[in-house]
Amino acid sequence: MKDFEFHNPVKIFFGKDQIPRISTQIPLSAKIMLIYGGGSIFKNGVYDKVKMALKDFQITEFGGIEPNPTYETSMKAVEIIREKRIDFLLAAGGGSVVDAAKFIAAAALYENGDPWKILSENDPVKASIPFGVILTLPATGTEMNKNSVISRKSTVEKFAFSSPWSFPLFSVLTPEAAGTLPKNQVANGIVDAFVHVIEQYLTYPVNAPIQDRFAEAILITLIEEGPKAYANPADYDAMANLMWSATMALNGLIMCGVPGDWSVHSIGHELTALHGIDHARTLAIVLPGLWKTLRKEKGQKLLQYGQRVWNITEGTEEERINAAINKTTEFFESLGIKTRLSDYGVTSDTIEKIVKRFEDRKWLELGDRGLTTPEATRKALEFQL
Ligand code: NZQ
Ligand code: ZN
Repeated sequence: MKDFEFHNPVKIFFGKDQIPRISTQIPLSAKIMLIYGGGSIFKNGVYDKVKMALKDFQITEFGGIEPNPTYETSMKAVEIIREKRIDFLLAAGGGSVVDAAKFIAAAALYENGDPWKILSENDPVKASIPFGVILTLPATGTEMNKNSVISRKSTVEKFAFSSPWSFPLFSVLTPEAAGTLPKNQVANGIVDAFVHVIEQYLTYPVNAPIQDRFAEAILITLIEEGPKAYANPADYDAMANLMWSATMALNGLIMCGVPGDWSVHSIGHELTALHGIDHARTLAIVLPGLWKTLRKEKGQKLLQYGQRVWNITEGTEEERINAAINKTTEFFESLGIKTRLSDYGVTSDTIEKIVKRFEDRKWLELGDRGLTTPEATRKALEFQL
């Protein structure tokens, strides 16, 4: 096992009647900005509950955060925050709203020029407005981590940043509110959480059995509970299990002491930036292609995954690796998530664009052991044409 530091300060409130608790978590003197997306919080009861809980607080509302939140919209919020001296943010919605709040919180206090540098140059965040979260969509894990992913319309780019300043102070997880999700978003959430686990688990063995078994437990739970939540998003128990699985998939626990990959995400972000494909769908395209490309290098973990998660015990090693890749693809497709570039109208021109972008940025050895070279990226995407 590798050395590691683990710190996760996010207080979680989970369940049906937790929103009223936020009034005890925010100072009464706070000037709050309530940040939300395109309006789902008005339909799933979250807005009314928040207004009720915070009836004695000063609130400015900022709606319109888009899926794949943009720098451009976030900077409009920053202007208002500076003007009104807002000192607490409350993000209510899915991962996009939460990620936007993280960026807005950091950008509002940024003193080194254009806050885009936090994303494009990895300029470290040195301060952030405190913020809380009400999560209505299980998927990203952003509710209990320090990451944020922001897109910029003007440059057609999508970058992530990570900072200890970007942990929420608290997160309320509301499986009930997630009951209004359209099925395609539930499917996205299952696949995103699944691939988060894979990015931390499916590298090479480092004798870290507890991390491996935590990871496998999350994968198996997603396989068992995900389809129930997909079939009926209002099934509270299934949604609650999906929501907690998605949080556990990316809150830092299973990455302790093990190598990570994350190159599926890096490639996926390009497909979103260039074609607007939903985040999870980009992962479902890239993952099988990358596994086919790196099947030898990742072979030991692919075999372990096949055996422990899918009960694949018969056949040669090659056959078992094929079966593990096929089972994964079938699982994604069973949730209505297509796994080929052609399913999204993407052609080989895009592959060349992505490879060139990685070369220009000197991203020559991404992921697990630097195995995701521009050439491996090309090969992985060609497998999925
Ligand atoms: O905008 P509203 O009206 O709120 O509608 C949203 C949006 O249209 C809707 N929605 C959310 N909760 C709902 C609901 N509709 C009905 N009922 C509810 N309860 O769902 C749509 C998608 O929401 P979005 O927030 O975009 O989805 P998700 O949570 O999947 O977030 C995706 C974003 O997170 C980033 C992705 O790149 C993408 O930008 N990620 C963030 C990560 C992180 N911070 O750690 C890790 C991930 O790998 C990922 O990259
Ligand atoms: Zn993801």
